[in-house]
Amino acid sequence: MSTEKLAATAKAIVTAGKGVLAADESNGTMSQRLESIGVVPTPDTRRDWRQLIFTADGFGEYISSVIMFDETIRQSSDDGRRLVDILSNADIIPGIKVDRGTHPLAGAQGEAVTEGLDGLRGRLAEYFDMGARFTKWRAVMSINDKTPSDYCIAVNAHALARYAALAQEAGLVPIVEPEILMTGSHSIGDCYTATERTLARTFDELSAQGVDLSAMILKPNMVISGHEAPDRATTAEVAERTLTCLKQNVPSDVPGIAFLSGGQGDEEATLNLDAINRMVKDEGAPWEITYSYGRALIATALKTWGGSAANVEKAQNMLLERCRASSEARSGAYSSSGTII
Ligand code: 13P
Repeated sequence: MSTEKLAATAKAIVTAGKGVLAADESNGTMSQRLESIGVVPTPDTRRDWRQLIFTADGFGEYISSVIMFDETIRQSSDDGRRLVDILSNADIIPGIKVDRGTHPLAGAQGEAVTEGLDGLRGRLAEYFDMGARFTKWRAVMSINDKTPSDYCIAVNAHALARYAALAQEAGLVPIVEPEILMTGSHSIGDCYTATERTLARTFDELSAQGVDLSAMILKPNMVISGHEAPDRATTAEVAERTLTCLKQNVPSDVPGIAFLSGGQGDEEATLNLDAINRMVKDEGAPWEITYSYGRALIATALKTWGGSAANVEKAQNMLLERCRASSEARSGAYSSSGTII
């Protein structure tokens, strides 16, 4: 696939007014989420939930693309349509998570490395044939007085770049996700430093391994206080620190940045994205800035659904409400009353 085609797909993923839905929870994580609402997890109940999302009327007004998990891309709806075709027919770009999760990093204290490079070339070709046009790989780093270590950052950045190069070779746009976790009581300053170290190393590796920056999307954390931090930074501080950190560390060739929500509440993730994009309106930025949220888009809808067919429409409306709010925030035009300003 030509680089121009990949770059065009990357631009389409971060197109104005839209963002990405991360519906790529592994079977283990999705099963826990279903159990939390009293639903027995099975391939069919996981399918029912994804079908509810993908068939929400008007979903494509706010969502350019959806990241799926391996099980989902192989599934069909209860009326026999492939889920991947439901997305494509609604002009939503299908994507696929290709990493194989985080595993303990040898010789490190409690740190993790993301695995999944073995056999990746073959899996990427299979996903392309199934209709996927982009991919995701997530690395995680945590903050405490000794972490993230240079070692953990280095191995994860190296793997992210190896994955990204293979994805582009296969004609798939890589979403590169180095996530600094919000777990802990660290300050926003600690998060800034960890994010900066991680982004700098990741872009060094991407360049060293020949990844075309114009044909990828960065999916970072916001620069934000830990969940248990005593004085959590305000929305204005999050916006200011996040934009500064990105401007210092993300090359302007990258077409778009799509944030993860990382355990922020729905409203918190929306307000922070909105504040960042308001700053961009004032001072400009070289890339599009949007969302690639999982929990912040689906949490309320999942509870509303509760596994009951009778609640499908209500849950779809809740989902659309969060998507609409995120879309407004993506333009720096969100007000919590729901009015575009
Ligand atoms: P959250 O928005 O729930 O953090 O999920 C995004 C994601 O894809 C994490 O890998």
